[in-house]
Amino acid sequence: MQIFLLLVCCVGFVVAMDYVPRNMEVVAEKYIGSTIWAFEKTHPSTETPANSNKCNLFVADVIEMSGGQVPQRKVDASKKTPIGTGEWCNPASKYMKKVSCWKHVTDIKKDGSGYSLGDVICDDGHMGIVVGVETVASQHANMSINKIVANDWGFRKDKKNPVFWRWICRDQKDILTLDEINDPEFIAANSAVGRGSFACVILMLGGFLFAL
Ligand SMILES: *[C@@H]1O[C@H](CO)[C@@H](O)[C@H](O)[C@H]1NC(C)=O
Repeated sequence: MQIFLLLVCCVGFVVAMDYVPRNMEVVAEKYIGSTIWAFEKTHPSTETPANSNKCNLFVADVIEMSGGQVPQRKVDASKKTPIGTGEWCNPASKYMKKVSCWKHVTDIKKDGSGYSLGDVICDDGHMGIVVGVETVASQHANMSINKIVANDWGFRKDKKNPVFWRWICRDQKDILTLDEINDPEFIAANSAVGRGSFACVILMLGGFLFAL
């Protein structure tokens, strides 16, 4: 009987973990060190060609994996692509208004406070996700680094005019399934089933110890 209940619990865990909206800073942090968005790589889901900057695509992927939505612009009659820094850095962007869950954060104080974990930050042609106190995860533009890093970009003395956006619909359930992103590195690093199974093993072990 106990074993049966544990099994039901486990299945519940695996399913539930798959549907919990993940906070953007948590998803962004998983990719620190990743080279998925490197300059010389083709971006898998948007087919954005190699040899282009993809700081906006890193942010777009994190948003989608967290259950958010990224405003899209038309490339041509049949193709759309996530907006770039031109829009994210513009508080009056008409594209940003198309997805009502994005709120321009207007309460940034003189001392720089007022932002939140998970905010999107855009400044002077670059962008990332706030993952800590004055810490931003973004695709590093320096070719000899060329990976996702977490540093104080956006909070330095040389910052121009950072614009912050906050996703205010945390309860959205419409999460991109991992199968939709066809990069194995994505799937391995982001497997919700993996997290559920881990919880399962712990639960089962606990159950057996209790039964003994
Ligand atoms: C890029 O990074 C390397 C390694 O950290 C550093 O030596 C170099 O000065 C950087 N280049 C620029 C243009 O910042």
